[in-house]
Amino acid sequence: MRQHVNPLSKNFNEVERIPSLTEMFDDPYLNLHLDIGSAAGDFLFELALVNNSWNYLGIEIREKLVETSKAKVREREIKNLYFAFGNAINILKDVKNNFIIKNVKSISFNFPDPWFKKRHYKRRVIQTEFINILSNSLQKGCLIFIKTDVKDLLDYMDNTILSNFNFKTIDNKDINYSRSFNPNKVQTNREKYAIVNQLDIFEKIYIKI
Ligand SMILES: C[S@@+](CC[C@H](N)C(=O)[O-])C[C@H]1O[C@@H](n2cnc3c(N)ncnc32)[C@H](O)[C@@H]1O
Repeated sequence: MRQHVNPLSKNFNEVERIPSLTEMFDDPYLNLHLDIGSAAGDFLFELALVNNSWNYLGIEIREKLVETSKAKVREREIKNLYFAFGNAINILKDVKNNFIIKNVKSISFNFPDPWFKKRHYKRRVIQTEFINILSNSLQKGCLIFIKTDVKDLLDYMDNTILSNFNFKTIDNKDINYSRSFNPNKVQTNREKYAIVNQLDIFEKIYIKI
């Protein structure tokens, strides 16, 4: 079992500068997908291959994983993939990084840490304040994909997102994948584990209206 990182630790108060889109990607004009809690990045490495007409940004709070992912990107000379280290909330609420939220077309929260104890809910990555920040800057039509194997966490994330009236649930079948794309085609590592261990997987998609 890995030790969870406490995102509220003051170690994460200072956020790294995220390079501009031009510095991060070969073609900064491609649509941008953001994966929050990207772990070792396997999900994004696969997406960057299967759908190379998008750019991908992963944010992960475990520094070693980000360093390894970055080294792999350099080694493989992948031009549509970038990883950033830190607490995603702190990074995205920093005004210097507002260009990220303004430019993303979709965001995935795959199997976020559940933080089961009620007194630890504040460590969960989906928080009202964070959803409000997203709501203020995301473009209309931007999609948010969430997935978890913890039903209580699903309900918590669902209530938090839908308490903001700028988001509504959308059915997979109602998404125009010629304009967007479906990141759920690729399984994450936690998802593979959940499937092998026959755990339930709960997923929802939201659209910014
Ligand atoms: C259970 S793992 C899931 C990893 C991967 N998304 C998957 O589905 O296999 C959750 C990941 O989110 C990261 N994480 C948790 N809180 C975070 C935060 N506030 N900002 C960025 N990453 C975070 C954790 O370090 C961990 O790698």
